[in-house]
Amino acid sequence: MEPTTDRKAIIEAIQKAPMLSPNASRLLQVTSTRDHDMAEVIGIVKTDAHLTARVLKIVNSAAFGLLYEITSIERAVNYLGERMVVGLAIGDCAAQLFQKPMEGYDGAKGSLWQHDLLTAIASREVAAYCTEPLNRDLAFTAGLLHDIGKALISDFLKGTAPGMLREIEDSLLNDYVEGEREALGIDHPEAGAVLADAWKLPPALISAIRHHHAPRNAAAEHQALTYAVHLGDIVAMMAGCGTGADTLRYHMDDSYTRLFTLDQDSLYGIILTANEEFEKITTSIAELKE
Ligand SMILES: [Fe+2]
Ligand SMILES: [Fe+2]
Repeated sequence: MEPTTDRKAIIEAIQKAPMLSPNASRLLQVTSTRDHDMAEVIGIVKTDAHLTARVLKIVNSAAFGLLYEITSIERAVNYLGERMVVGLAIGDCAAQLFQKPMEGYDGAKGSLWQHDLLTAIASREVAAYCTEPLNRDLAFTAGLLHDIGKALISDFLKGTAPGMLREIEDSLLNDYVEGEREALGIDHPEAGAVLADAWKLPPALISAIRHHHAPRNAAAEHQALTYAVHLGDIVAMMAGCGTGADTLRYHMDDSYTRLFTLDQDSLYGIILTANEEFEKITTSIAELKE
């Protein structure tokens, strides 16, 4: 098929992709504003019985090792932090997308969710090193969603990974996103941004999704967030948690040094901290399914 035909089919498929629930959507809107209150987050969780039950189950899971059971949703949300609540809400709505087999990338089923979660944790860690004010929880959310476009184009990429790797090796392709564009007429950051737009996500999140492999192209007001995700993504891949053949086949934009005071040692420190938190979250989520 011609790349332009694929592009059209992909954009049509995105309009039929799972939508966010009104509560998840409100959570994303509220938590992306600078001065929001935890009470607003708690208010939304309280109107959603399913989410309330899951938050309470997570906070009381063995992974968190609390001595006493937490039964109030206020205390649970405060203890877990809004990022866990937002993560659960998005994860519930878009489970089908996060669990999509990554066949187009020769990757395993479940690898997208793991990579997105580790990127989310790492992006939030990286955000602490930003020289500008940057909402760390928003960096987490952006990290969680950054590669959602891969779920939308993976099926269309089936069988392309070996050729793509060869062309990158031979410098016929710059990186994996260029390969996607040549094969399909659209790359995963753009496909993700089209979905983010359909989901009516806040502009900062759409920008982080669209530009996470070329953060310098983001609008000035979204650069700090976009660079945080760019770096968080690389940290996740360096930690050995990618989505398949494309792992580390992207360029690192060195101009992050304009906005972040990050040296090699702090990067390795972030990998360790991120891995620990990843274990804790995945163990507590696994208990949900028991
Ligand atoms: Fe990506
Ligand atoms: Fe990624």
